[in-house]
Amino acid sequence: MSYLLSPSILSADVANLGDAIKKTTAAGADWIHIDVMDGVFVPNISYGIPVVSGLRSHTDLFFDVHLMITKPYEYIEKFAEAGADGITVHIESEMPEIGKVIDEIERCGAKPAVAINPETPVDPVLPILDRLSTVLVMTVHPGYGGQKIIKDTFCKITKLRDVIRERNLDTTIEVDGGITLDNVLEVKDCGADIFVAGTAVYKGDIRKNIKSFKETLNG
Ligand code: DX5
Ligand code: ZN
Repeated sequence: MSYLLSPSILSADVANLGDAIKKTTAAGADWIHIDVMDGVFVPNISYGIPVVSGLRSHTDLFFDVHLMITKPYEYIEKFAEAGADGITVHIESEMPEIGKVIDEIERCGAKPAVAINPETPVDPVLPILDRLSTVLVMTVHPGYGGQKIIKDTFCKITKLRDVIRERNLDTTIEVDGGITLDNVLEVKDCGADIFVAGTAVYKGDIRKNIKSFKETLNG
């Protein structure tokens, strides 16, 4: 398969998000990563449902909505209605049994994904891998863009890749946090398929950065 780039608009110009999304789309990004933070699950607040819905008309790209909120289950339907194509919930958040959460994401017509924080082992996601479209491995502590990648998380990417291969599943592995042009190939070699990048895409020339990522990953 080809490797996907999912630019995180957390690092884009917040006063011109629509414009940033148009540029990101024109430059050849694969997905748009939207970080939703509630100030409780993580020590930062970003944006929510109206922003997802307001941005929906600016691109046809897959909206990869990453919920860093305390009670994601209650909001799944609203984010799906706003235009989320994929909904990622954290295994560490407060929610009903994970199977029920996956059912709800699917019922709302979105692709289910589960994220694990740097200190969370892969074990709780192993039994549900076959039900997930994507597993998101956080390579920084969630909450802020611009952090340095935590290399201790790499062994989890490889472990997940091995299990997914062993079971012959289609589940993809997404990585999020501190991804740059200098480390993206190392992370790819660990087994990642989808790469979130905020600072490394939106700092400087968006078009050039996206092109460099795409060439590095698939060239
Ligand atoms: C962090 C977010 C990330 C973040 C990535 O909590 O989930 O998506 O925006 O930003 P960079 O690429 O700058 O680490
Ligand atoms: Zn994210």
